[in-house]
Parts: sequence; C-alpha cells; structure tokens
Amino acid sequence: MRPMLIAQISDFHLKPQGALAYNVADTAASLKCAVRHINHLRPLPDVVLITGDMADDGALESYQVLRKILESLEPAFFMVPGNHDHKEHLRAVFPEHAYLNGFMEPDGKRAVCYAVEHFPLRLVGIDTVIAGEHGGGLNPGRRSWLDAVLSRKPAAPTAIFMHHPPFASGIGHMDKDVFAGREELAAIIAKHPQVERLMCGHIHRAVCRRFAGTIATVCPGIGMQLVLDLQEESPAAFILEPPALILHVFTELWGEKTLLTHVGIIPDSPDQYGGVHSFFDVVSPK
Ligand SMILES: [Fe+2]
Repeated sequence: MRPMLIAQISDFHLKPQGALAYNVADTAASLKCAVRHINHLRPLPDVVLITGDMADDGALESYQVLRKILESLEPAFFMVPGNHDHKEHLRAVFPEHAYLNGFMEPDGKRAVCYAVEHFPLRLVGIDTVIAGEHGGGLNPGRRSWLDAVLSRKPAAPTAIFMHHPPFASGIGHMDKDVFAGREELAAIIAKHPQVERLMCGHIHRAVCRRFAGTIATVCPGIGMQLVLDLQEESPAAFILEPPALILHVFTELWGEKTLLTHVGIIPDSPDQYGGVHSFFDVVSPK
C-alpha cells in the first residue's frame, strides 16, 4: 500500500496583525516556519490536521492572519477548534471549509464534529470545546454522534482528532480541568477497536498513553511549549522551545499494516541544524 502521511500541527496562538503572544512569542513566524517545513517534506503529507487554538484570543483578525499564512500550505488541511478559538469567527474566515458547520446543538450553536472519508485512514474530528471554559469535554449529543459515526464503519481503520486530551497530563496547572464525559468517551472508544489513535492538542508537549484500548497522542505546540513541570503546583507557564509537529504514517511495513507516530522539530530555517551527516565505521561490539 502507498503510505498515507498525516502532518499534525497544533496550538498556534496567533494574534491580530501577527502581534507577539504574551509579548514574547512570535507565533505567526513559528507558523510560517511550520508551513515551509511541511511543504518541503518528502513525501509531501497527504493531509494536515490542525488540532485547535489556532488563535490566542478568538479575534476575527487572528483568523485572517491564519488564513494568509495557510494560503501557502500545499496539502489539504482540516481544523478542529480549541478553547482559545471563536468558532463563528473561524467559520467566517474559512467559509469554504464547510465541515466547520458540523451539526446544530440544542442551544442553537454548532459542534464542529465531522468525518473525512476519502483517505485509507478514516479521520474523525470532534469538538471538545465547552464555551467559556479552559477545560474540555464531550456532552451527550457529541458522544452519541461519535458512537454513531464509528458504528457506521466498524472495519475502517480510524483516527480521531480533537483539541483536549481526555486524560490528565501530569502538568499540574493543566490538570485542574477534568475532561467532562471522559469515562463515557472511554466506553465508546472501547466498543470500536478500529480506532487506531486519538490525536490531541492543548498540552503543548509530546505526550502519549494508552486510552480505552487505543493509543492517545498529544501534539507539541507551534506557538510555544508548556514548561515540562510535573509538579501538582506547577504554575501556568510556557517556554520558547522549538515548535514541533507530528507525522502520523499509515503504512505497511514488515508485512503488517500500522499507524506510526513520529515527532519532529521545526527549524527556524532549513539549515538551522546544519547539513545531514553520514554515519561511518558503524560496528556492533560483541
Ligand atoms: Fe493552546
């Protein structure tokens, strides 16, 4: 089979007119580096998944910055919102991304939940945003939608992408908001063994763990990384470590189909880390 390559990027935290986030983070510059980096990957990814917090403040102007930068991204891309996003503003700036309409909820607002069916790996985006809250979750309507969508194609290998991970990260300040409906979500995932991966954002660091019989991964941030402080009392703080992306590869190797997940640093410029260097005189001591 031809490998299917998914680039996942997350948590851009763009500001209007490309202003610095929190007065220090040039998040627009980081996203431009990410776009250039993805465009130079070989093979070129088939699709880019963007897992939320595209804007820092939800301002319409921040999405205009987003649109301008993503205009040069070569692969097709799909987005789900994060807690910093304003869904109506996002939809207004990307009207051709009809999937952002998702479905209507009882309060008259739309949940950005959708399935992308035309790749070898089925992609299901779910909206974990709870309006006005930092933490996320899945209400009963969104959980029913997910269960029904997964039930329709039980034999199709599937990845679910979403902003909030449905588990604690160990980074204290991020764990104060418990994911609403996590046990119910786990019960749904456990019913559907075709779910190869949960692909999340929000934590601004590479994390992975087992979840309900599948594997859950968290994508590093583009705009900034959270400080790797695993104390319960860790303050909300970030650090300008390099941005990074995830490459998920759905492929067949050594005679078995598999979904691989690699994390890659995004350089400021193509030659930031120098050229590539060949190994030589490699030996395996006896
Ligand atoms: Fe974020």
